[in-house]
Amino acid sequence: MTNPRILSGTAHPALGDAVSEALGTEPVECEVERFPDGELQPVIGHVRGEDVYVVQPTGPKVNGHLVELLLLLDACRRADAARITAVVPYFGYARQDRRTRAGQSVGARVALDALTAAGANRLVVVDPHNPALEAMSTIPVETLTAVPLLAHTLAEHAPEAAVLVSPDLGAVKLAERYGALLGRPVAVVHKTRLSGSDVQAEELIGDVADRPAVIVDDMISTGGTIEAAVQVLLAQGATQDITVAATHPLLVQQAPDRLARLPINLLLVTNTVPPGRVRTLPHRVRSVAPLLAEAIALLHGGEPLDTLLMRA
Ligand code: R5P
Repeated sequence: MTNPRILSGTAHPALGDAVSEALGTEPVECEVERFPDGELQPVIGHVRGEDVYVVQPTGPKVNGHLVELLLLLDACRRADAARITAVVPYFGYARQDRRTRAGQSVGARVALDALTAAGANRLVVVDPHNPALEAMSTIPVETLTAVPLLAHTLAEHAPEAAVLVSPDLGAVKLAERYGALLGRPVAVVHKTRLSGSDVQAEELIGDVADRPAVIVDDMISTGGTIEAAVQVLLAQGATQDITVAATHPLLVQQAPDRLARLPINLLLVTNTVPPGRVRTLPHRVRSVAPLLAEAIALLHGGEPLDTLLMRA
């Protein structure tokens, strides 16, 4: 097989370009036509017999980006690509991994089945909300992690005395991974979700009094989780020196304003989705393009990804 080929959808072309450049490979040409009624129709370049990597995070607007990804996969299959890998650095719907009340669907499973039916032979994701995505999928899932990348930057910026804080029970393992890399203690906030954008946090397990805090999460959507965690931390005596690190900066709706009102010295994120909405906040963006390029080079060569994978 020749070089891997990168095909980028419209969700995050800058990331696709950066991955192609890092690999020194010519991207596959792609136009996505939008019809007046909202339908999409991609037209892609020649990929017959090629090992194709379709780069398309399914961040906001989630549904449009997901449907476009499905159409791109189908276009690759119909154009006779030898192997098709969906590279979805942010995997939307991953939070819908179970039913929490009667009558709900399981969106993560539906999205995975749709990718498979559309033609993906394999999926690459970065820090998905639930690593059990792999167990729900009938195609192989390579679960990469940006935690070492972000921890490396935290090691430079976070004060020596900082406590790592998980803003909910679901992020405890993530906080422990940061804690292990940085050699810092971990505290946990107990949160209850009231609605899609509001959460309530009351309890904190761990000692944060007179210490700076680094809150870590997989994603920031409306900012409600971070806001509630900051309030609990301050109520428990943490200093007004707070850093927030998250892989996926969705920052929808009022999130930038919400975060701007908090004593956050640094918001550290990656570019798994276009990170434009962080610009009004003190921030640093670390690119996942080198991580994705390395993973693609290894997959293309049939090599194991060991050091790039998320380990729970
Ligand atoms: C949920 O458990 C996730 O890990 C995040 O904490 C959550 O999705 C963030 O959403 P928001 O910013 O809207 O609170």
